[in-house]
Amino acid sequence: MERTFAYLKPNSIQRGLVGEIIRRIEEKGFKIVALKMLRISESRARELYREHAGKEFYEPLLAFVQSGPVVAMILEGEDAVKRLRVLVGKTDPTEAYPGSIRGSFGVSVRKNLIHASDSVESAEREARIFFDESEINDYSLVIEGQL
Ligand code: PPS
Repeated sequence: MERTFAYLKPNSIQRGLVGEIIRRIEEKGFKIVALKMLRISESRARELYREHAGKEFYEPLLAFVQSGPVVAMILEGEDAVKRLRVLVGKTDPTEAYPGSIRGSFGVSVRKNLIHASDSVESAEREARIFFDESEINDYSLVIEGQL
């Protein structure tokens, strides 16, 4: 099974959308193997977005992601990276499909609610910024009625 990394940005938490967004992720069959709420330190934020260093949105992006707590997670599933990116929708919520998370609730390229890794390599790198190996859980998803 492929793993991907995602975190809910501060505006998801501030708008009370944590449950709704995680519900959509679970509904699509992703298995949550790690999950926590935390504040992103400046060094973690810089490491996470290092490929964007120097771009005009880099500093505003760093300030935004540190403006409140976030909810970070590692998700497992078939083709998880690509499928989560589809569920999340395009970076600019005005261009995202209406059924996607950003298309439903996003307001701007900055306040676009959720980050999802764009490749298996980035997912591994980004997951390591937030989680130790001991925080990743192994269990089986159970289909209702089989409990
Ligand atoms: S790029 O240059 O096309 O690769 O960048 P893009 O994928 O569009 O965006 C990368 C992340 O930067 C965030 N972003 C911004 N944040 C704050 N302010 C502005 N103006 C802004 N523009 C882009 C965008 O939300 C992306 O965040 P992640 O967490 O990767 O989704």
